Amino acid sequence: MKCSIRFASGITLTLLFASGVKAVEPPDVKTALSIVQKHCVECHGADVQRGGVRLDKLTGDPSEANTWSAVLHQVQSGMMPPKKKERLSGQEMGSTVV
Ligand code: HEC
Repeated sequence: MKCSIRFASGITLTLLFASGVKAVEPPDVKTALSIVQKHCVECHGADVQRGGVRLDKLTGDPSEANTWSAVLHQVQSGMMPPKKKERLSGQEMGSTVV
């Protein structure tokens, strides 16, 4: 299990799992954002902010490092998205990111 967060040009979040899912392409912030939009914003957006967490305004700016780190932690530990919700696909996990 490897987890890296790097802020060079913009944001790069990488999640590599023990299952050997490999990043198929350089992770990019657009992919990360689209995954957050798809899986997280319904509970962490403008209308609802579960746990006081709001994710719809993320842009990938390095100042959001703490938020991304929390996002990464939640996804990686399997706590988010909540169990009853659609899980992230292997592709989403591997190529990315959040
Ligand atoms: C079905 C609703 C729902 C969805 C979808 C959802 N969350 Fe959450 N989230 C919650 C609730 C409820 C809490 C607060 C209670 C808790 O900690 O379990 C929470 C809390 C959090 C927290 C704060 C945890 C803490 O320990 O302070 C983070 C970070 C988070 N979510 C990230 C995400 C991410 C990233 C996604 C998408 C991959 C996501 N959530 C999708 C409902 C949701």
